[in-house]
Order: sequence, then structure tokens, then C-alpha cells
Amino acid sequence: MEEELKRLGQEAETELNQVADEAELEPYRVKYLGRKGMLSTVMRQLGQVPKEDRPRLGQRANEIKRHVEELFDIKTAELTAGSAIQLQQEDLSLPGRILPTGKLHPVTQVMEEICGIFEGMGFAVAEGPDVELDYYNFAALNIPEHHPARDMHDTFYVSDSILLRTHTSPMQARIMENLDPPLRYIAPGKVYRCDSDITHTPMFHQVEGFLVDHKVSFADLKGVLTSFTQRMFKDDIALRFRPSFFPFTEPSAEVDIACVICGGSGCRVCKRTGWLEILGAGLIDPEVMKMVGYDPDTYSGFAFGLGVERIAMLKYGIDDIRLFYENDLRFLEQF
Ligand code: DAH
Repeated sequence: MEEELKRLGQEAETELNQVADEAELEPYRVKYLGRKGMLSTVMRQLGQVPKEDRPRLGQRANEIKRHVEELFDIKTAELTAGSAIQLQQEDLSLPGRILPTGKLHPVTQVMEEICGIFEGMGFAVAEGPDVELDYYNFAALNIPEHHPARDMHDTFYVSDSILLRTHTSPMQARIMENLDPPLRYIAPGKVYRCDSDITHTPMFHQVEGFLVDHKVSFADLKGVLTSFTQRMFKDDIALRFRPSFFPFTEPSAEVDIACVICGGSGCRVCKRTGWLEILGAGLIDPEVMKMVGYDPDTYSGFAFGLGVERIAMLKYGIDDIRLFYENDLRFLEQF
């Protein structure tokens, strides 16, 4: 028994010297020092030795076990300190890994820029529902049932009298109905039309604007829109007001800017005209005024509506509107 203890102690020491990394520590501990390890097993056999030898052998066994435990603790400290040293040897001055950060969608960025310009001119911002009553989307804007203008809107209907708004113009009626002039508002938001190709998506964004007061004229409209386009594009950009028709404005105009690609000399983007249409506008039709309870002899106003994606496309030279909605990071990260 005594011999066996001695031999085991030596074996344990020799093997501990061969333990070379942290991963080998635990298997070693189990083999020699664990509850079912070799030292415990030998100690359990003490019961079988003659009574008078037991105290001496027991003491001897404990000494050997404690000695191996001490050596094991030293080894453990050495090897784990080794990994701390290894950490120090890595170059901690290397730049950290840059985590990707989110940013605003280009349409949101352009929308905020548009709103910021009009807010700078004293316009307040109002938002309204995407799911709209037929009444506000059409009837209140002088587009009665069976009016041909309804066909142009490719409307998504929810029910007979409820639809997804096809433009932000219903906000004119909603706001005027609730407040008295003078009013100066813009209404940004999503609009929906059943249409899809390189210049149309079923959902897109518009910013509506309008102003109502005494003696508001077309000159006021021209002044506000000129300031806006100059700030949005560039200071000396040329502007053109082309006669047009909208049921809710009279007179109505479509507004063009000099082509941002060719500067007006004619190219593929402006279809050789030198001009790009950017918005619709006009003086608010007296019929719209009457429907919200305003006296058109006392008040007048102007209104305009612009497409946010269109402005973004012109500003950044994007030729396919669908790029905004494909979530391709290679595209989105450029803004
Ligand atoms: N609502 C029109 C559209 O979506 C745009 C528009 C034209 C708005 C003229 C206006 C306006 O306020 O005066 O096509």
C-alpha cells in the first residue's frame, strides 16, 4: 500500500509536468484528484489494511494528495496567466471593428428637406390619414362622382366610401373645414395608386401645401415656389409655369424646372424639351372654398402638390423609382 501511494504520487507529478495547456487541466484533475480519481480510489482501500497501519497510511495518503493538489494549483495559475499574457500580445491599438449604423431612407431625407424649406417660410406641418373618405379625396375637392378626373387616379378602394388616398390634397379640405384663415400649411405623407412601372410605385409620397388669406394672388404662389425650388435645387434655376387643369384649382399650372441634367439644352431625361415637371399648383377653386364654408369673395388662396420621389430622382439623377423600395443597401448607403 505504501509503495503504491508513493508510486502514484510520482506518476501524478510526472504527468502534471506534461500538462501544457489550459484544456488539459480538467481531464488531469478528474483523473488524479476527482472523487473517482486514482488518489481517492487508493484511499478508499485503506479500510482493508491492518488496523494498526491505518493512521500512518491515512496520513501519508493525505500528504500526497495535498502535495499533488498544490502542484496542480500552481500549474493552473501558470497556464491561465499564460492566456492573459497572450491577450496582451494581441495589438490592442488596432482600430475597433466598425458596426453598421442605420440612417434615414433617402425619401425620408428629401421629405424632411422639403418640409424644412417650407417651415422656414412659416408653413405649419399637418398629417392626415392614409385611409381616407371618398368625400375628402374627391368630392370636397370639386371632383364629384362620375367626374372624369376620378379615372386618372387609379384608386384602391376599401369600400364604396372609403379608399387609400390618391393624393395629399384631401388635407386642404380637412384643415380648412376646422380652422379659419389665415392659414399656411404643408401636409406630407404617403399616397397610393394602382400603378407600377419605372416612374410609378403603388405607394409614393407627396407634400401638399396651401395658403389662404385676404387677397392671395398667383404672384404669391410664384414667389413661394420660386424660393422653394431655388433652395431645393440651385439658386439660379429657371422655373416655368405651364397652364394646366386641376378640378380644385383655378387657374391651374404645372411647374417645370430647367433640366438638371442638361441645364436646358435638351437631353434624354427631359425628352429634349429642356424642362422637367416638378409639381402641380394653382389658386384654390372658389367651389372648394364654399364647401368648407369660406366666402370666396373674402378669402383667396393658393395650393400646390409635389411628388417626393420625383424631386429626389431629379436631385440625385435616379432613373428608376423602384430603387427606393427594393432595400438594396448598395443603393441606400449612397445617401
Ligand atoms: N393632387 C394633385 C395630384 O396628386 C397635385 C396637385 C395639383 C395638388 C395642384 C395641388 C394643386 O394642391 O393645386 O396630382
